[in-house]
Amino acid sequence: MPEQRATAIAHPNIALIKYWGNRDHALRLPANSSLSMNLAALATTTTVEFRSDLDADSVTIDDAEATASARERVSTHLDRVRALASIQRKASVISRNNFPAGTGLASSASAFAALTVAACAAAGLQLSTDALSRLARRGSGSACRSVPGGFVLWDACGADAGGEDNCSFGRTIAPPDHWDLRNVVAIVESAHKAAGSTEGHAIAETSPFQAVRVASTPERLERCRAAILARDFPALADVIEQDALAMHAVMMTGTPSLLYWRPATLAVMQAVRAWRAEGLAVAFTIDAGPNVHCICPAESSTQVKHLIRAIPGVERIFTSGVGGGSYLLA
Ligand code: DP6
Repeated sequence: MPEQRATAIAHPNIALIKYWGNRDHALRLPANSSLSMNLAALATTTTVEFRSDLDADSVTIDDAEATASARERVSTHLDRVRALASIQRKASVISRNNFPAGTGLASSASAFAALTVAACAAAGLQLSTDALSRLARRGSGSACRSVPGGFVLWDACGADAGGEDNCSFGRTIAPPDHWDLRNVVAIVESAHKAAGSTEGHAIAETSPFQAVRVASTPERLERCRAAILARDFPALADVIEQDALAMHAVMMTGTPSLLYWRPATLAVMQAVRAWRAEGLAVAFTIDAGPNVHCICPAESSTQVKHLIRAIPGVERIFTSGVGGGSYLLA
């Protein structure tokens, strides 16, 4: 029996057009298409080994045994890989993040992208990038956008495309060096978030605004794609703020209501708008948490960092450029 062990590295991504809500929760088929950029400075490194001596999968994350729910989610994903490869062996999974501890930046996107790439290689499967992305999506939706590199579009693959699961995966629309954008993250709270994304996706459809948000996403997605391809920062700024606010409007108005913002979240949002009105190229986006991701061209990033540090309530900042796709370590 050949060695069934492989190690993969993946970067998390920040969505510029958000994924929020599924039309099929089991398959993680999203309600709408989304667009993101990978984050070069953050990485998850995962080693998977299928072993004949194990009775159950064992999962270690950042040198600690994973919680029961995390282990179950990983095992369910490994079952998908085992079914494809027709193997039964249980696996040992060892995963490490380079994210500074306690920043609230932990990401299921890089976790499931690295797990998918490592597990498939360890199982002897040779899948295309598209197929790896499609499989990663089943573990965590946003993970499908961390498999290819640079700026990535995840097609919802809805009714127009026949609604099949096989066309819903991430594709690169521009490589990392296409546009030197930076994400300066203002960390306003490091604690674990109250409601995670998976729970949030299930609540999305209880908001009366979700249908409107979903119906209006193709127009924003197209504007965002065009702004990226043309490196048009003012156009990008407008559309990413609109899209993030549309998602938060849905979060706030669902049942139960999800209100992730802290006072410092709003302080950074207001400051970003004021700086932009004065001519500084910077725009915000916010995920399912209170931290504010300030997107800017590399030229503005020194000033953006300097200004954000001075805002009361910002505990620390973290900066990243645009990253590549997931890959195997030789
Ligand atoms: C707000 O991909 O984390 O970050 O599929 O349940 O793992 P699961 O959800 P996840 O949702 C990401 C939500 C978001 C927006 C985005 O990244 O597009």
